Amino acid sequence: MGIESSCDETSAAVISDNKILSNVIANQEVHKKYGGVVPELASRAHQKNIIPVVNLALSKANIEKNHLDAIAYTRGPGLLGSLLVGSSFAKSLAMSLNIPLIEVNHMQAHLLCHFIDDNCEIKSDFPFIGVNISGGHTQIVLCKNYFEMKLIGETLDDSIGEAFDKCGKIIGLEYPAGPLIDKKSKNGDNTKYNFTIPNVNGLNFSFSGLKTNFRRTVENGINKIEGFIEKEQDNLCASLQSTISEILLKKVLLAVKETGIKNIVFGGGVSANSEIRSSFEKIKNLNVFFPKRDYTTDNAAMIAMVGYLKYNEKKFSNLDEISKARYQI
Ligand code: KG4
Ligand code: ZN
Repeated sequence: MGIESSCDETSAAVISDNKILSNVIANQEVHKKYGGVVPELASRAHQKNIIPVVNLALSKANIEKNHLDAIAYTRGPGLLGSLLVGSSFAKSLAMSLNIPLIEVNHMQAHLLCHFIDDNCEIKSDFPFIGVNISGGHTQIVLCKNYFEMKLIGETLDDSIGEAFDKCGKIIGLEYPAGPLIDKKSKNGDNTKYNFTIPNVNGLNFSFSGLKTNFRRTVENGINKIEGFIEKEQDNLCASLQSTISEILLKKVLLAVKETGIKNIVFGGGVSANSEIRSSFEKIKNLNVFFPKRDYTTDNAAMIAMVGYLKYNEKKFSNLDEISKARYQI
């Protein structure tokens, strides 16, 4: 069984070899009205959700808890209070069933979830360049094998998901704005507004300047045109989304040039974005792997997958290992 509770999704999944038998995700609606995740409310919601979610994952997989061979859980990175709910539960369950406990790095799991056997996806070979794009992270990772991963680029300020969510908030979109921007962009003109591509050295990213640029454009528009946001929302979304896709494409192509590696594996919620997907799929000579959409946002299936890989190598954990809000990949 895999258990995930690093942010605002409480999730439990059952895996048998590398086939997922169940993957239950409880989203926390409570954060919507605050425009972002409130850590204390997230921990409380995890406490409320964890037992029903685990029970449902067992019943959907059609097994009893004493059929489990091991418990894998997210050790970090994430919100400490949220991580503690999942880790305490996982440790107690492993101890009571007297089975191995396996700690999992959430960011590794995002990059390994495309190895889940679902009979349709082609899997990447090693080495590959991992691109983790979510609400919490923007990382380029050199992946030599399942467990040897090295961070080669990251954001210096906001994450790519924050760029979507914070800009969305400026034009009145609900949190998380990413999926809404994706949808609205389909009806918009992506050449209507020109946002600046930040000039950041090497493989690192910066998104805070883009957010300021976007805010100024909206403020100018509001001052000049009545009902500006309502009239221009689709065009603003399309122009923003194209700029973000271009920033990502440029950096990943630089990573390809620098490493000579042509296998690219995506992970994280933002990898569901349709323009990001199509912009990479258009590039010839690259082997691009996107996870199934079910596995893009936070889920326990990916934790169970890494648990399975570690179980095969007897990479077990101790009960005294502490959760880590910051946990290097
Ligand atoms: O991986 P994830 O579920 O949670 C974190 O670990 O952060 O990612 C959530 C992020 C949010 O910022 C959300 O707006 C973004 O993923 N997201 C998208 C799309 N679907 C989710 N961003 C752009 N386009 C999408 N289709
Ligand atoms: Zn995540």
